[in-house]
Amino acid sequence: MTTDGTTIERLGVDLGDRSYDILIGNGLLADAGRLIAPVLRAPRVAVITDQNVVDAGHLATLETALAAADIAFRTIILEPGEQTKDFAHLERVIGDLLAGGIDRKTSLIALGGGVIGDLTGVCAALTLRGIDFVQVPTTLLAQVDSSVGGKTAINTTQGKNLVGAFYQPRLVLADTGVLDTLPVRELQAGYAEVVKYGVIDMPDFFEWLEGNGPALLAGDAAARRHAILTCCDAKARIVSSDETEQGQRALLNLGHTFGHALEAETGYGGGLLHGEAVAIGMVMALTLSNRLGHCPGNDAARLRAHLDATGLPADFTRLNADGWTADRLLAHMMKDKKTEDGKLTFILARAIGAAFIEHDVPTGPVADVLTEFLSARG
Ligand code: NAD
Ligand code: GLY
Repeated sequence: MTTDGTTIERLGVDLGDRSYDILIGNGLLADAGRLIAPVLRAPRVAVITDQNVVDAGHLATLETALAAADIAFRTIILEPGEQTKDFAHLERVIGDLLAGGIDRKTSLIALGGGVIGDLTGVCAALTLRGIDFVQVPTTLLAQVDSSVGGKTAINTTQGKNLVGAFYQPRLVLADTGVLDTLPVRELQAGYAEVVKYGVIDMPDFFEWLEGNGPALLAGDAAARRHAILTCCDAKARIVSSDETEQGQRALLNLGHTFGHALEAETGYGGGLLHGEAVAIGMVMALTLSNRLGHCPGNDAARLRAHLDATGLPADFTRLNADGWTADRLLAHMMKDKKTEDGKLTFILARAIGAAFIEHDVPTGPVADVLTEFLSARG
């Protein structure tokens, strides 16, 4: 039972001996020691977090909970932001862990958003050839997507998420209450990943979001809980059937091929958040689907209307896109992990809720969509 009397939801990610649970509930952080203890090899952890999460009071809550469960801990606090997900911080964290005398039974706890979760996952995969880690996601994006599924990565100067491993956590603990301290823009960016699940294969959920998305973003606890549960359930289902993205897991990349190119061109400096890039990328993917004859309806417009209604960008209007060209954006796409033998892979859709994977998409129509979005930016 959680602090507000609601039950703790437990979902399973079914991966044989690497299976784990996702716990979801309001106020779970205050009980984190007791909830995490069963998956620890020894009662000692290193918590990795960022300064904003500390300032919001969540580290203190976690530390109190760990102490109450007699779990020894040390803490590494990093600077917030996408720039933290790089080789320099990876080296710093691993160096700090080794200097502090970590052993193979020590677990890492990632307390933060996707940046902290992804970086901690890489640290866990590499340190002493692999130690356990627990995800305690504190952003909406991390609670519905990045903390589940074991994709860990850092960025390099060549692009985003290019170095990493599939490395599953031992537990995901999603306290929906910590989202109360999240800045609205970050909440909206995470909401783009929520919408993504509806567009992939849950048209009823998309319709539910059209009715309840604004309330969810305004803080409606029941709407948040329902959305997080629905997304984690969908992600657990997809990951359990395709852990290393040999097939259907690629659907989760909807909007990401366009989105990553926009992020690369913007420079990862906070001008465009990952979720915002995904929001624009999903509209572009539906537009491309339409131009290729796959999506004859007006679903791109329907998606755009919902993103507008929830404060998310759906085009380039808010971007500083001076000097951008279709060729530059295409060049970023060619470096994307999903590009093989120079052939572009996109997640396209026949309609909202009916996405599919298309390999070898011709560059001409992609360039046309990029040009269309560049010229429409006013
Ligand atoms: P983030 O980790 O940068 O967090 C966003 C901001 O919110 C940061 O400033 C952070 O300090 C702050 N913050 C976090 N929790 C807070 C809280 N409760 N209260 C106040 N402030 C808080 O960004 P994100 O959107 O969570 O994650 C984006 C990253 O996730 C990207 O690097 C992306 O590539 C990655 N990602 C990974 C996967 C995956 O499967 N591994 C999936 C999607 C995205
Ligand atoms: N966020 C995409 C994935 O986990 O596969």
